[in-house]
Amino acid sequence: MTKQTYQTLNVHCDDAGVLRIVIDVPGRPLNVINADVMNELDAAITDLEARKDVKLVVFKSGKESGFFAGADVSIIESISNKSQAEQLLVAGQRLFARIEKLAVPTLAVIHGPCLGGGLELALACDYRIARDNSSTKLGLPEIKLGLIPGWGGTQRLTRLIGLKHSLQMILKGLHVSAQAASSIGLVDKAIAPDRWRDELLEVINHLLHGDELHSVFAIGRGVKNRLQANEFVRQQIVAIAERSIAKQAVHFPALSSAIKAISESFENDDRGYETERAEFKKLLFTPACRNLLRLFFAKERSRQLKTWVTDHSQLLHQDPIRRLGVIGGGVMGAGIAHCAATRGYPSTIKEANKMTADAARNRVDQLVNEYAEHKGMDREQSERLKSAVMVSESMADLSDASCVIEAIVERMDVKKSVLRDLESSIGKSAVIATNTSALSVSEMASVLRYPKRFAGLHFFNPVSRMELVEVIRGDQTSDATIAKLVGFVKSLGKTPIVTKDSPGFLVNRILFPYLGEAVLMVQQGFDVKTIDDEMRTFGMPMGPLRLLDKVGLDVALHVAGTLQQMMPAAGTISTILGDFVGRGDLGCKSGSGFYRYGGKRPKPRSGRKLVSYFVQPPASIDFIEDGLTDIQRRLVYPMLLEATRCLAEGVVESEWAIDLGMVLGTGFAPQLGGPMQVIHEIGHAHFNANLARLALQLGERFETYEPVRAVNGQDTSLMKQGELL
Ligand code: NAI
Repeated sequence: MTKQTYQTLNVHCDDAGVLRIVIDVPGRPLNVINADVMNELDAAITDLEARKDVKLVVFKSGKESGFFAGADVSIIESISNKSQAEQLLVAGQRLFARIEKLAVPTLAVIHGPCLGGGLELALACDYRIARDNSSTKLGLPEIKLGLIPGWGGTQRLTRLIGLKHSLQMILKGLHVSAQAASSIGLVDKAIAPDRWRDELLEVINHLLHGDELHSVFAIGRGVKNRLQANEFVRQQIVAIAERSIAKQAVHFPALSSAIKAISESFENDDRGYETERAEFKKLLFTPACRNLLRLFFAKERSRQLKTWVTDHSQLLHQDPIRRLGVIGGGVMGAGIAHCAATRGYPSTIKEANKMTADAARNRVDQLVNEYAEHKGMDREQSERLKSAVMVSESMADLSDASCVIEAIVERMDVKKSVLRDLESSIGKSAVIATNTSALSVSEMASVLRYPKRFAGLHFFNPVSRMELVEVIRGDQTSDATIAKLVGFVKSLGKTPIVTKDSPGFLVNRILFPYLGEAVLMVQQGFDVKTIDDEMRTFGMPMGPLRLLDKVGLDVALHVAGTLQQMMPAAGTISTILGDFVGRGDLGCKSGSGFYRYGGKRPKPRSGRKLVSYFVQPPASIDFIEDGLTDIQRRLVYPMLLEATRCLAEGVVESEWAIDLGMVLGTGFAPQLGGPMQVIHEIGHAHFNANLARLALQLGERFETYEPVRAVNGQDTSLMKQGELL
């Protein structure tokens, strides 16, 4: 038995010749590949190459949390030039190539996350086995950072699982479970947790005896479509992939780069690896990649309690939320209870009466059925999930909840009355939250005896898919309440942003001036399709009018009313939306809004069917070049302006929170980094100058309180040269 200890690795070889390299990066909850891991792996492999007594090398993690989260993203972000990038890429590619070429068999033993550089390491091994439980996931998510795998992932994954699966995994940044990985040939065996130790030893024994795993377990690396050996077929698959990403690739250059590198993986030389490095280097310095990296770190920050509460250390140890109460089992209440159940929280929904309680039960059951189908759950599992959500008509049934979320109709008087009743039915230590979209949290708290325990918890619709949750701090909300809710949001796998209590909070407040401007443009005769197409070209996932139809024009009308005090044009917008609602045109849910639904695709509507009267469009004027078309500028600037107002008023304290909130809450073009980042791109002076022109052209809604200033007082645009205004 020999043993060698590094900072991040333990290497020991037993008498049978099994050398285990156990990776355990200190001070990290999950292993990440950083310079220390690379250097020490390099040293361990050098040592191994000289040894004659080793018969099998096993790579595994020393952490129960998982194998590898990936490469350390802060190292990627700190690379300042292409030659530094090349060094890092070459070092990784060489190291993994040496592992691949070791004379003895190599096995990666995977549990938990095995992502990015971690999977690239596993791919360099001869064999992979994975523990088959819910935390195990394998993937190459680099595309989500605007990058591609750079340590051979595009090459080895494709050779192992074939072009089709590889393109799917890399282009979408998908991760797969142990079972799915086994079915596509990414791992040689998925082992159930209760048989993990025994079967792992069995695998090791086979390998020590020189057996090939895939023949022993009759498993298929042959899953790879044989046809893909044919170059013509490969070309066809690549051509289909290219067509499918053509539109998105304008915004996400990494998609084309990935296809380029992947399609060279069948060459019998190093060309594919060279292409992978070249494309990675090109991508790393694109604005899209820099913005996606910035958002990655913003998300990391938002998930740390210390970001939101100053005296956080004691609060980390307070009792977490264990049981949930939800008042109102409508769209949002049912969604919240279902989402909490999937994360292990039992909950009780309190409804108004028997009929609405039955409707709430059906809603939850329906959500669970869809979820179970998506996750491939059996009947027993889905029934267990359903039984985690109780539905009741009695407030008394919420008495043992440690957090109650109110999700009833958006009316202050009704919410106040329900909250007053609730407080007398629950314990003093329970936290109370409201899912209001825009009403004042502080005003609601005024009816409570213990207002410190009350805050807003604004989930977005649909709850299961939307990652953002705004946590709203009322005037009297305590840090302890914020800490509990932030912890709860994180435990649901979502991202919290704590905001001040102000109408529309952060996301709706910034979004609605944009949606409202689109409505005003329709009244001025702008074409529905043109408006939406322009914003899709800007990078939004859908145009503002389609989004309004999705939100529901009745809901939008209500929000416009709530935001009246901050939106000078809210009156006109409400009138136009009111006409729609009056005619029963509520958007998707009624079959018509700005679009007509029911056919294969929504059809944009036009002319008199949309508005009862048109007004003259504004006279065109010249703007300073800012990379936007006139239509885009008119729609994007309201968001940018409102974002600066939110910052000035302290709705949130940092620009990154605005950017992250808008990207996660509305799908604001992530490759552009969010509204504040767009202002930086345009330059503050250009932005102010164009705002002034928009105010002249379109009125006071484009007026700033005062010129928007650059952070750190640095303003790099031409305004300084006295060229504008
Ligand atoms: P909904 O109309 O679908 O559901 C409201 C539910 O509350 C109904 O099932 C109703 O029976 C129940 N209810 C009414 N009074 C009650 C009472 N006194 N006791 C118990 N239950 C009662 O409404 P939705 O859409 O779920 O909205 C709920 C809240 O969430 C509102 O404040 C809304 O502004 C907010 N919200 C809605 C979003 C959406 O997209 N629908 C998004 C984010 C927030």
